[in-house]
Amino acid sequence: MKIAAYEVRPDEKPIIEGLCKEYGIELVSTPANLDASTVDMAEGCEGVTMLGQSDLSDPIIDKLADYGCQVLAARCVGFDHMNRHYARSKGMHVCHGSYAANGVAEYTVMAILMCIRNYKKAQANTDDNDFTLKGKMGRELRSLTVGVMGTGKIGRTVIQLLSSFGCRILAYDIFQNDEVRKYAEYVDLDTILAESDVITLHMPLLEDTKGMISKENVMKMKDGVVLINNARGELCDVDALIWGVENEKIGALFMDAFPGEVGIIHLGHDADIIRTEGMPYFKLKYLRSFVNVYHTPHMAFFTQEAAESMARCGVDAIYELLTKGETQHEVPKNM
Ligand code: COI
Repeated sequence: MKIAAYEVRPDEKPIIEGLCKEYGIELVSTPANLDASTVDMAEGCEGVTMLGQSDLSDPIIDKLADYGCQVLAARCVGFDHMNRHYARSKGMHVCHGSYAANGVAEYTVMAILMCIRNYKKAQANTDDNDFTLKGKMGRELRSLTVGVMGTGKIGRTVIQLLSSFGCRILAYDIFQNDEVRKYAEYVDLDTILAESDVITLHMPLLEDTKGMISKENVMKMKDGVVLINNARGELCDVDALIWGVENEKIGALFMDAFPGEVGIIHLGHDADIIRTEGMPYFKLKYLRSFVNVYHTPHMAFFTQEAAESMARCGVDAIYELLTKGETQHEVPKNM
């Protein structure tokens, strides 16, 4: 068996290499994304693993199918970058990672606390020897209503962690879960938007959820709402976010994910001149200039524990499918 691994970070390399050695798999690997310029590396490989920035559009899938690929195994949880229906029509299995939700969930609690305690302003002022309390009065979670949109593994873990803070928790999802009902009340979309002081997004990026945080929906939120997006950038319409922040509808915005970040995140752009108005990255720079807007480089997932599981998932999914014909990592066929 031979597999190709793309987007391999230095921390993943020894894990992927070790597993391949243990399973007797021949491995070719690169830190580069899978795209038209790198796809030839996968010639003769029955499985291909990658993270979330690779190009898995139809022409690349065609090439992989011609090269003998039977399994596409993303190491990340998100699978929105893979044209799953087309890959399946070419006889391929489509898999994704399934690391513990704690890393992203803990990061989300941190983000909420940073926003409600005005951390960015406090740090900036302190760095400037301004030790006043002006503009720094916070809120306590026990007095707030937190709305969790998306109650899959990550949303559920966020709810569980938040339950110890004594806040009222509202939940929204088209698939409801009994575990969630222990701590939160399921409500409809308009109610979660209207009644939450803090809204945190944990739904997958699907046709139905793309652009869900539109201007219309931002307008339905409470004045001064805290909005957290540690999921996928494209859940939000950037102009709606800008409108919300400029008009003080959004009291604080924390984004670990930003629309159009593929090819930007996890890379150094310190020497680049950002000047083109209209580009998502330009808008991001504008948003980041507000003292109540936080941006981090899609790192909520990045813990030692999760990184190790992700590397394992990629190799295991391919190995299990090719040796046993099944794996727990396959993306459900209806998604
Ligand atoms: C995921 O696992 O879906 C993530 O968001 C992290 C990944 C892009 C590296």
